[in-house]
Amino acid sequence: MKAAYYDRTGPANAVFQIGEIDDPKPAAGEVVVQVHASGVNPTDTKVRGGTPGRKMGYPRIIPHHDGAGVIVATGAGVDPARMDQRVWIHSAQFGRAFGTAAQYVALPQHLAVRLPDATGFLDGAALGVPVMTAWNSVMGDGPVAGRTVFVAGGAGAVGHYAIQIAKLGGAQVAASVSGPAKAEEALRAGADLVVNYTDPEAEAQVHDWTSGRGVDHFVDVNTTQNAGFSASVMAHGGRIVSFGSATNTSEMPIRDFRQRNVSIRFLFIHRLDAHHSREIAAAVCGLLRPGILSHRIAHSLPLADIAKAHQLVEEGHVMGKVILDLSKG
Ligand SMILES: NC(=O)c1ccc[n+]([C@@H]2O[C@H](COP(=O)([O-])OP(=O)(O)OC[C@H]3O[C@@H](n4cnc5c(N)ncnc54)[C@H](OP(=O)(O)O)[C@@H]3O)[C@@H](O)[C@H]2O)c1
Repeated sequence: MKAAYYDRTGPANAVFQIGEIDDPKPAAGEVVVQVHASGVNPTDTKVRGGTPGRKMGYPRIIPHHDGAGVIVATGAGVDPARMDQRVWIHSAQFGRAFGTAAQYVALPQHLAVRLPDATGFLDGAALGVPVMTAWNSVMGDGPVAGRTVFVAGGAGAVGHYAIQIAKLGGAQVAASVSGPAKAEEALRAGADLVVNYTDPEAEAQVHDWTSGRGVDHFVDVNTTQNAGFSASVMAHGGRIVSFGSATNTSEMPIRDFRQRNVSIRFLFIHRLDAHHSREIAAAVCGLLRPGILSHRIAHSLPLADIAKAHQLVEEGHVMGKVILDLSKG
């Protein structure tokens, strides 16, 4: 099969190779998917970029967790009726060397989820890690109907789905962004209030919006950077769900959080067990009826342009997903 891969970490344009490698075979409990579209996430670019002093997890890596395609082989223990099923894929490369940046990928069957006919492969490849993370961040602590939910990074891939899921769940939703174009995106996704997190007035705007009560639930893309802000805007008994952070360690205003009984739950979506993963995927599938969830594709590129795709994600200006469209070659 044709695949994009790297044998050493480094800059995208220096390490990516496109070549032929053996087609994968399904192990017990696995399916093989013919990949039609492969989604790029920030984690794919970070792993490819490498960490000084850390060795690659595998001698060769085909990157990407997310994708969409059609099941073309089933391993022992998988219902053969899944053959020819259209699927969306998440976490494909976690704990495995080979992800979706190839014509075929083998993966545990629960990571390949039925994709309704009405959802195209590009949109299917946008779902993956962002929608799984968004659903768990918003709904993983119980219903949000009637509550206030704050989505930090409302124009990001996770944030875009988080706003929509919180609104569908009946919450009042505020979001933060860094500028007017991203504010438009967050409003289009359904946010009731959008603040600019670089604006010193942002905290006061959130206090006014909640009539001084504070927000019940905070979906956090950058927990260390946002700690001062979140400590200021949380309601008594509120919950922060942290799925991202620019730095690993930081000083946190612990006293402010403690005095309002705020709890912080950290989330790493790839390490949810298969049972929880299936539950979230099923809930997401319930939202894939036409007209419910909007997906945002910023760029679709051929597999040969994988280095450019990674660079676009790394630059951080793209609003919407960067997807490799394997039908383009
Ligand atoms: N733990 C997990 O399981 C998990 C799952 C998915 C993603 N992640 C991580 O979460 C992060 C976001 O993923 P993504 O796919 O949504 O990326 P993305 O599409 O690049 O979006 C990230 C967004 O966050 C915004 N942002 C950055 N700092 C912010 C801050 N302090 N307050 C508010 N917004 C801020 C960025 O906009 P500006 O730069 O303009 O502010 C951007 O719009 C990545 O680091 C990713 O690796 C973790």
